[in-house]
Amino acid sequence: MSGFESVFGALPQAVGEAPGRVNLLGEHTDYNGGFVLPIAIAQRTRVSMRRSSGRQFALHAEGQGGTVRFDLDSPPPEHFASYVFGCLVLVRERGTDIPPLDIHVESDVPMGVGLSSSAALEVATLRCLRQLLGMPLDDVLIAQLAQRAEIEYAGVNCGIMDQMASSLADTTRALLLDTRSLERRFVELPPGSAVLVIDSGIARSLAASGYNQRRAECEEAARLLGVASLRDVASIDELSSLPDLLKRRARHVVTENARVVQAVACTTAQAFGALMNDSHASLRDDYEVSTPELDRLVALLQAEDGVHGARLTGAGFGGACVALCEAQALQQVAARVLDQYAAAGQNGKVLVPPQ
Ligand code: GLA
Repeated sequence: MSGFESVFGALPQAVGEAPGRVNLLGEHTDYNGGFVLPIAIAQRTRVSMRRSSGRQFALHAEGQGGTVRFDLDSPPPEHFASYVFGCLVLVRERGTDIPPLDIHVESDVPMGVGLSSSAALEVATLRCLRQLLGMPLDDVLIAQLAQRAEIEYAGVNCGIMDQMASSLADTTRALLLDTRSLERRFVELPPGSAVLVIDSGIARSLAASGYNQRRAECEEAARLLGVASLRDVASIDELSSLPDLLKRRARHVVTENARVVQAVACTTAQAFGALMNDSHASLRDDYEVSTPELDRLVALLQAEDGVHGARLTGAGFGGACVALCEAQALQQVAARVLDQYAAAGQNGKVLVPPQ
């Protein structure tokens, strides 16, 4: 029996799925109109729906307690429900009538570690609605609506990377995305390499407030420089007039954009990895979104022979690290790094590939 059936006693009328993502390079560049390089992960979120005979929406997410009931005039207090609520309201605003629905959510995307469980939930919800109501939404529009749901209903002033990745990326090639034009193309990973993601075990407690603050700092830096966004700054030489803190924030964005462009032209895994290492240093020193634990985990990864490069991934402030490894060495690297991280008193966990 499906999860939906065991909660609601009938089969769903539509099902939508979407994956999480891990970002290989291009962190905190998307809300500056810059470049990103995410790849989808194997873990997915599945949303199932059926028209309800009741007058309210009923939402049941596995692992999130009981069923939440709401209507579209007032947001439910439960945080996880606000992502689904936001998608429903935004679709209604586009002029599509939405009948009361029974909604079931199940997911194996790790939550709160920087692998975009929220984007996966938003995109899966919109895909399911598209199927149920026969709406002509393309995958880019789905990503745009999903981003608005996150900003307007979940309170994170995010860029569009996660939702574009969840809607358009696949698990075998990275997605090079220009977040300003939304131009994109798939990029092969360096031959013989594979992606390893390890959770640092440190919760991202300050992520939402710190994230919104970083975004505001970038906007202030762009305003002072007289450009529409930091994407328009070609070189760090143009930053000299900025106050120190804003200069460092902007320097991260400008150098990170350049690293993504260089990475897709790299011919070796070593060169790609070196750019990941530089990205981590920039996120740690200039952007200040790392933590001592993330720094330790990244240093352990970088010290391994089978690792080409490693960095924190996602918004930072805790969460996971990504490494580009020799595919054949991956499992051994993971085991050794977890042992050393444990010896330092921390509890890490391999998230990608799923164990
Ligand atoms: C979060 C946001 C993205 C992006 C990253 C940082 O995942 O949702 O839009 O800004 O942080 O690169």
